[in-house]
Amino acid sequence: MKRERFLLLTIATFGAMLPVYAGKATPPSGQQIFKQHCASCHANGGNLVHREKPLAGSAELTSIIRFKKYLSHPPGHMPYYQNLVGNDKMIKSLYDYCKTFKKAPRSS
Ligand code: HEC
Repeated sequence: MKRERFLLLTIATFGAMLPVYAGKATPPSGQQIFKQHCASCHANGGNLVHREKPLAGSAELTSIIRFKKYLSHPPGHMPYYQNLVGNDKMIKSLYDYCKTFKKAPRSS
Protein backbone atom coordinates (compact mmCIF):
# COMPACT_ATOMS: atom_id res chain seq x y z
CA MET A 1 0.00 0.00 0.00
CA LYS A 2 2.71 2.46 0.97
CA ARG A 3 4.67 1.58 -2.13
CA GLU A 4 1.66 2.23 -4.33
CA ARG A 5 1.15 5.63 -2.81
CA PHE A 6 4.75 6.52 -3.42
CA LEU A 7 4.41 5.45 -7.02
CA LEU A 8 1.28 7.50 -7.50
CA LEU A 9 2.95 10.53 -5.98
CA THR A 10 5.92 10.15 -8.30
CA ILE A 11 3.69 9.93 -11.34
CA ALA A 12 1.66 12.92 -10.20
CA THR A 13 4.79 14.99 -9.66
CA PHE A 14 6.19 14.27 -13.09
CA GLY A 15 2.81 14.85 -14.63
CA ALA A 16 2.65 18.27 -13.04
CA MET A 17 6.14 19.11 -14.28
CA LEU A 18 5.48 18.14 -17.88
CA PRO A 19 3.79 21.39 -18.95
CA VAL A 20 6.80 23.27 -17.59
CA TYR A 21 9.09 21.42 -19.95
CA ALA A 22 6.62 21.67 -22.78
CA GLY A 23 6.41 25.42 -22.18
CA LYS A 24 10.06 25.76 -23.07
CA ALA A 25 9.65 24.15 -26.45
CA THR A 26 6.45 25.91 -27.51
CA PRO A 27 5.76 29.61 -27.08
CA PRO A 28 3.45 30.39 -24.16
CA SER A 29 -0.22 30.77 -25.00
CA GLY A 30 -2.00 34.09 -24.67
CA GLN A 31 -3.68 32.76 -21.57
CA GLN A 32 -0.34 31.86 -19.99
CA ILE A 33 1.13 35.26 -20.80
CA PHE A 34 -1.93 36.93 -19.38
CA LYS A 35 -1.82 34.87 -16.19
CA GLN A 36 1.82 35.64 -15.69
CA HIS A 37 1.85 39.36 -16.49
CA CYS A 38 -1.63 40.81 -16.40
CA ALA A 39 -3.96 38.76 -14.24
CA SER A 40 -2.72 40.28 -10.98
CA CYS A 41 -4.43 43.52 -11.93
CA HIS A 42 -6.80 42.44 -14.69
CA ALA A 43 -8.27 39.21 -13.35
CA ASN A 44 -11.34 38.22 -15.39
CA GLY A 45 -10.84 41.24 -17.61
CA GLY A 46 -11.38 43.72 -14.79
CA ASN A 47 -9.02 46.25 -13.27
CA LEU A 48 -8.20 45.99 -9.59
CA VAL A 49 -6.24 49.23 -9.52
CA HIS A 50 -8.69 51.40 -11.48
CA ARG A 51 -12.05 49.71 -11.45
CA GLU A 52 -13.44 52.15 -13.99
CA LYS A 53 -10.79 51.10 -16.54
CA PRO A 54 -11.35 47.40 -17.12
CA LEU A 55 -9.48 45.48 -19.76
CA ALA A 56 -12.63 43.81 -21.08
CA GLY A 57 -14.12 45.81 -23.94
CA SER A 58 -11.37 48.42 -23.74
CA ALA A 59 -11.00 50.73 -26.72
CA GLU A 60 -7.29 49.87 -26.62
CA LEU A 61 -8.25 46.46 -27.94
CA THR A 62 -9.85 47.72 -31.17
CA SER A 63 -6.72 46.81 -33.12
CA ILE A 64 -3.47 45.04 -32.40
CA ILE A 65 -1.57 48.15 -33.47
CA ARG A 66 -3.39 50.21 -30.89
CA PHE A 67 -2.91 47.50 -28.27
CA LYS A 68 0.81 47.36 -28.95
CA LYS A 69 1.07 51.15 -28.81
CA TYR A 70 -0.78 51.21 -25.52
CA LEU A 71 1.47 48.58 -23.97
CA SER A 72 4.51 50.50 -25.21
CA HIS A 73 3.43 53.69 -23.47
CA PRO A 74 1.09 52.62 -20.70
CA PRO A 75 -0.33 55.47 -18.63
CA GLY A 76 -0.57 55.68 -14.86
CA HIS A 77 0.09 52.52 -12.97
CA MET A 78 0.14 50.23 -15.96
CA PRO A 79 3.57 48.59 -16.11
CA TYR A 80 5.57 48.56 -19.34
CA TYR A 81 6.30 45.15 -20.86
CA GLN A 82 9.22 45.59 -23.20
CA ASN A 83 9.73 41.86 -23.72
CA LEU A 84 6.10 41.38 -24.76
CA VAL A 85 5.85 44.37 -27.04
CA GLY A 86 9.02 43.36 -28.84
CA ASN A 87 7.77 39.85 -29.56
CA ASP A 88 5.19 39.73 -32.36
CA LYS A 89 4.04 36.19 -31.61
CA MET A 90 3.57 36.83 -27.91
CA ILE A 91 1.79 40.14 -28.39
CA LYS A 92 -0.54 38.57 -30.96
CA SER A 93 -1.54 35.65 -28.74
CA LEU A 94 -1.92 37.97 -25.76
CA TYR A 95 -4.06 40.31 -27.86
CA ASP A 96 -6.29 37.46 -29.03
CA TYR A 97 -6.71 36.27 -25.48
CA CYS A 98 -7.56 39.75 -24.14
CA LYS A 99 -10.28 40.04 -26.79
CA THR A 100 -12.02 36.98 -25.36
CA PHE A 101 -13.03 38.86 -22.20
CA LYS A 102 -16.59 40.00 -22.33
CA LYS A 103 -17.29 43.51 -21.22
CA ALA A 104 -18.32 43.25 -17.60
CA PRO A 105 -21.72 44.64 -16.71
CA ARG A 106 -21.33 47.86 -14.76
CA SER A 107 -21.66 47.18 -11.08
CA SER A 108 -23.69 49.89 -9.36
C1 HEC B 1 0.15 46.62 -11.71
C2 HEC B 1 -1.18 46.42 -12.25
C3 HEC B 1 -1.34 46.17 -13.73
C4 HEC B 1 -0.82 45.14 -14.48
C5 HEC B 1 0.08 44.03 -14.00
C6 HEC B 1 -1.34 45.31 -15.82
N1 HEC B 1 -2.15 46.40 -15.87
FE1 HEC B 1 -3.24 47.00 -17.47
N2 HEC B 1 -3.91 48.62 -16.41
C7 HEC B 1 -3.56 48.89 -15.10
C8 HEC B 1 -4.07 50.22 -14.76
C9 HEC B 1 -3.89 50.93 -13.41
C10 HEC B 1 -4.73 50.70 -15.91
C11 HEC B 1 -5.37 52.07 -16.09
C12 HEC B 1 -4.28 53.01 -16.54
C13 HEC B 1 -4.74 54.43 -16.56
O1 HEC B 1 -5.35 54.83 -17.56
O2 HEC B 1 -4.49 55.11 -15.57
C14 HEC B 1 -4.63 49.65 -16.92
C15 HEC B 1 -5.19 49.73 -18.17
C16 HEC B 1 -5.10 48.76 -19.15
C17 HEC B 1 -5.74 48.83 -20.45
C18 HEC B 1 -6.64 49.96 -20.95
C19 HEC B 1 -7.97 49.94 -20.25
C20 HEC B 1 -8.76 51.18 -20.65
O3 HEC B 1 -9.58 51.09 -21.58
O4 HEC B 1 -8.54 52.24 -20.04
C21 HEC B 1 -5.38 47.71 -21.13
C22 HEC B 1 -5.79 47.34 -22.55
C23 HEC B 1 -4.49 46.95 -20.26
N3 HEC B 1 -4.36 47.61 -19.07
C24 HEC B 1 -3.88 45.77 -20.62
C25 HEC B 1 -2.96 45.10 -19.81
C26 HEC B 1 -2.22 43.94 -20.24
C27 HEC B 1 -2.37 43.26 -21.59
C28 HEC B 1 -1.41 43.59 -19.20
C29 HEC B 1 -0.40 42.47 -19.16
C30 HEC B 1 0.61 42.48 -20.17
C31 HEC B 1 -1.65 44.52 -18.12
N4 HEC B 1 -2.58 45.43 -18.54
C32 HEC B 1 -1.05 44.47 -16.88
C33 HEC B 1 -2.86 48.09 -14.26
C34 HEC B 1 -2.18 46.95 -14.61
